[in-house]
Amino acid sequence: MSVPARYDRVSRVLQWLSAPLVLVLLVIGWLMVDMPLGIMRFDTVNLHKSLGVLLLLFTLMRLLHRWLSRGLCLLLAGHISAV
Ligand code: HEM
Repeated sequence: MSVPARYDRVSRVLQWLSAPLVLVLLVIGWLMVDMPLGIMRFDTVNLHKSLGVLLLLFTLMRLLHRWLSRGLCLLLAGHISAV
């Protein structure tokens, strides 16, 4: 079976959504721990948590997509059967 030259569209979109999110989370995480207690810190921590959960979702979608497309490749190559 030939190896594709590049990752498919779904993998690339999820990668480009995840990469900036990691950087934003790191920056927000570092900034928020030094903020004084108050509404600003409360909102920033909530934003950090929401983006963190979003990143987790993207990561799970990437894993699921990888597992499903690997299964499909093996199926098409005849290494496993559909039933
Ligand atoms: C890829 C990087 C990161 C991800 C995905 C991430 C994700 C998360 C998530 C999902 C939570 C909520 C957890 C919970 O409430 O049980 C959380 C909380 C927290 N994170 Fe991050 N985080 C990242 C980086 C950082 C960094 C760099 C710092 C600080 C240097 C940081 C500091 C914190 C703190 C202090 C909390 C607790 C907030 C609170 O409930 O008071 N995080 N993070």
